[in-house]
Amino acid sequence: MADRPRVWVSQPLFDDIVGRLHEHFEVDATGKVTVWSSPQIAAKLRGCEGAVVTLNERVGAHEIADATSLRAIANVGVGYNNLDVAALGARRIVATNTPDVLTETTADMAFALLMAASRRVTEGERWLREGQWTQWAFDSLLGNDIHGSTLGILGMGRIGQGVAMRGAQGFRMRVLYHNRSRLPDGIESNCRARYVDFATLLAESDHLVLVLPYSPATHHVIDAAALARMKPTATLINIGRGGLVDEDALADALSGGRLFSAGLDVFEGEPVVNPKLLAVRNVVLTPHVGSATRATRRAMATLAVDNLIAALGHGPDAGSPPT
Ligand code: DGY
Repeated sequence: MADRPRVWVSQPLFDDIVGRLHEHFEVDATGKVTVWSSPQIAAKLRGCEGAVVTLNERVGAHEIADATSLRAIANVGVGYNNLDVAALGARRIVATNTPDVLTETTADMAFALLMAASRRVTEGERWLREGQWTQWAFDSLLGNDIHGSTLGILGMGRIGQGVAMRGAQGFRMRVLYHNRSRLPDGIESNCRARYVDFATLLAESDHLVLVLPYSPATHHVIDAAALARMKPTATLINIGRGGLVDEDALADALSGGRLFSAGLDVFEGEPVVNPKLLAVRNVVLTPHVGSATRATRRAMATLAVDNLIAALGHGPDAGSPPT
């Protein structure tokens, strides 16, 4: 069996799911959560035909330079800014991701952050645990309403549409969105969402949710100038990628009272969080857990493993690997 193709699995996924790879390949699976350096990734990929990686592992020209047998990389996640798709494409290495299976769970998380940040849930909890609650007070920890407010969505892909549905149907929100291109009428009416330009989205949103993919074109799309155009009573939610937001400018806006609150699940330098954000009271911070339910993580791992098996020509879809 030593001549079977070798594949690398960069982080522990679910054993039973990774086990399916053993039917076809020699599997180099990592037993514990590991921080891989670029030279270590390059060393792991050398001699492999495929790999299952997560957003932690950056795979680009440098990492694949000596991986002459590499034919496919299956990313466990819908965002794939950790992959240099141009470098992979130039070597005809197939790259896959895991769309759809995490849509609803990640849209739920947008609402978890939106509700926590607007209603000051985590701030109130810290206050209570610190023993500051001496009696019920009429005017303490006042937040902003979610129901009936205006929800803005920047990036109206599948997750953005899931956020829109929750807002329109669950909270009777007026939903505005901005996207690279306007959605067909049928989808707009299904989501009860209205397309507006970026300036209008900033100016009219009571809650603005970022669900954009990250790329050089979307780097710091929310910068000091964009924040200055938002309502001072607004809440900003980021479940996309940290690099969408200028975190220094956001921390300044929050501490200076120019923005009511924020909820962030993603950070520019994660897992390191900008110390200016850590020092701010009115921001809810979570450690990139948008898709972190057991069912969804299992579905993501299953899809990534299926993708790799298919891309390497062993699955039912062999010959037309998903992209
Ligand atoms: C993704 O899939 O891109 C998420 O950020 C991982 O939870």
